[in-house]
Amino acid sequence: MPILVERVRKDFGRHRALDEVSLTIEDGAFVTILGSSGCGKSTLLNLIAGLLTPTKGRILLDDVPIMKPGPDRVVVFQQPGLYPWLSLRDNIAFGLRMRGAAGIDWGRVDEVIGIMGLKGFEGHHPYELSGGMQQRVAIARALVMNPRVLLMDEPFGALDAQTRHRMQKFLLELWGKIGATIVFITHDIDEAIMLGDRLVVMRARPGRIAIETRVPLPRARHWDMTLDPAFLYLKRQAMAILGE
Ligand SMILES: Nc1ncnc2c1ncn2[C@@H]1O[C@H](COP(=O)(O)OP(=O)(O)OP(=O)(O)O)[C@@H](O)[C@H]1O
Ligand SMILES: [Mg+2]
Repeated sequence: MPILVERVRKDFGRHRALDEVSLTIEDGAFVTILGSSGCGKSTLLNLIAGLLTPTKGRILLDDVPIMKPGPDRVVVFQQPGLYPWLSLRDNIAFGLRMRGAAGIDWGRVDEVIGIMGLKGFEGHHPYELSGGMQQRVAIARALVMNPRVLLMDEPFGALDAQTRHRMQKFLLELWGKIGATIVFITHDIDEAIMLGDRLVVMRARPGRIAIETRVPLPRARHWDMTLDPAFLYLKRQAMAILGE
């Protein structure tokens, strides 16, 4: 079942952060949300996460309004937010522990460590890891929950350009493997087009959706595609909206 965002408004006091936002997110899609600072991207993501509730309108998952966070939807933020006193392996298992499962499925934890390319670092603490690796641990901590929906709020925003490229490639491969729905926020136009199979461009004051479109590029993405006419066409459209 898709996630249906139906005419959502979100006010913070007298400030209208979002208005008339409608969006369908198909199961297994990779949706990127692009917009300038303050246009309501995080607000939209937090509404889908259930960390916020709409002022008006509703968001449905399996035909049921999302009212609170659930293990089927996990969020990865820009800051990895790891616990410095826990090892990599314990950081990844933390969510499972919080969920109150009777016993932690350490087999699953180690499987995810393998998927994320973190084997050999299980005993390391966050300060012993690079920024890119810390962010991979944060993604692993989300993945171990087997979420249907991975909500990512500028997860690579704090990384240097090279690490960021590597993580983008890695995320696309990961998406191919896990089949989860990914909603990925960024204010980087190239990143938004390069990663998404659907692209949402937002406009500010109040936050609204300006464009919602399929990204007409083959799934096997490659950086040469930034020169593809389809890429450039979308980029020009997005730039026009962001530049308004
Ligand atoms: N809890 C809150 N209370 C009051 N205002 C808020 C709150 N959260 C967000 N806002 C306001 O709502 C608007 C949208 O914020 P939001 O964080 O969703 O933007 P964003 O697109 O994620 O921006 P950025 O790219 O800087 O992260 C902003 O004007 C922000 O100041
Ligand atoms: Mg934000």
